[in-house]
Amino acid sequence: MQIIHPLADMTSWSREIIASGKTIALVPTMGYFHEGHLRLMRLAGSLADHVVVSLFVNSLQFGPGEDLSRYPRDLDKDAGLAENEKVDILFVPSDKDMYSPEFNARVLVDGITDTLCGKQRPHHFAGVTTVVAKLFNIIKPHYAVFGQKDFQQLSVIRKMVRDLNWDITIVGHPIVREDDGLAMSSRNTYLSDEERSRALCLFNAIRHAKARFAEGVVDAKRLKSEIRDIIATNSGVSIDYISVVDKDTLSAKKEIDSRSVLALAVRVGGTRLIDNCFMASDTEAINRQW
Ligand code: PAF
Repeated sequence: MQIIHPLADMTSWSREIIASGKTIALVPTMGYFHEGHLRLMRLAGSLADHVVVSLFVNSLQFGPGEDLSRYPRDLDKDAGLAENEKVDILFVPSDKDMYSPEFNARVLVDGITDTLCGKQRPHHFAGVTTVVAKLFNIIKPHYAVFGQKDFQQLSVIRKMVRDLNWDITIVGHPIVREDDGLAMSSRNTYLSDEERSRALCLFNAIRHAKARFAEGVVDAKRLKSEIRDIIATNSGVSIDYISVVDKDTLSAKKEIDSRSVLALAVRVGGTRLIDNCFMASDTEAINRQW
């Protein structure tokens, strides 16, 4: 595995690969790899001849007072983990190369960014789409792989690629969970032991929702109220949102059906955590993910 820092070197490598008729799959990340990232890398390896993993903590997607300065970083450990996967290039651009002082551009996707996390974090998705657009232009991948834990991010990126006619196939990977069901996230490292056990209310809520849907409960308002009660039993956990939305448009649903996604965001102490599930996926599927 090669580590590339300069943007121009990354593009030259990609141009050579493309000229030789081979394909590239990109896994965009902010680093601090866990099993979830490694699974994305493995999926990328099954899709294309070459895998590029980008590692860049993107300042543009953090709002004031968010965790940019304390976001966990460990390049040496990450490089070791990526090396063990079928990764050809770990692309680690610098802040100043990605965002020169004159940098003014933004890539915006309207509509589906106004809801869920976009409502709570107003500039977040503009930061995500801008950096992902830059990575697509620098790396020129045929495939890009994203985790479904950031379900809204995946929808926004799919929409950006469709709307801007990029010839890139966007592939989602199911949520990867710890043994007890907590969705894997680099931010889990912020949790104390006590907070970590409280954070399980997210997965308990998901399991409850799926069981109730299987019993025939389709009233979104009723289900959300039951979930609110489950989460409220945990002191120190506050709810950012509990939403049932359409899987493509992300518009709120009153009646739960096979297109519905339950999306949750809570704060456990100072840590914001998200989780979601496709209501129609069978319980087997969520247990397999888990
Ligand atoms: O999901 C992430 O880690 C980030 O939002 C991404 C897609 C790498 C963009 O910075």
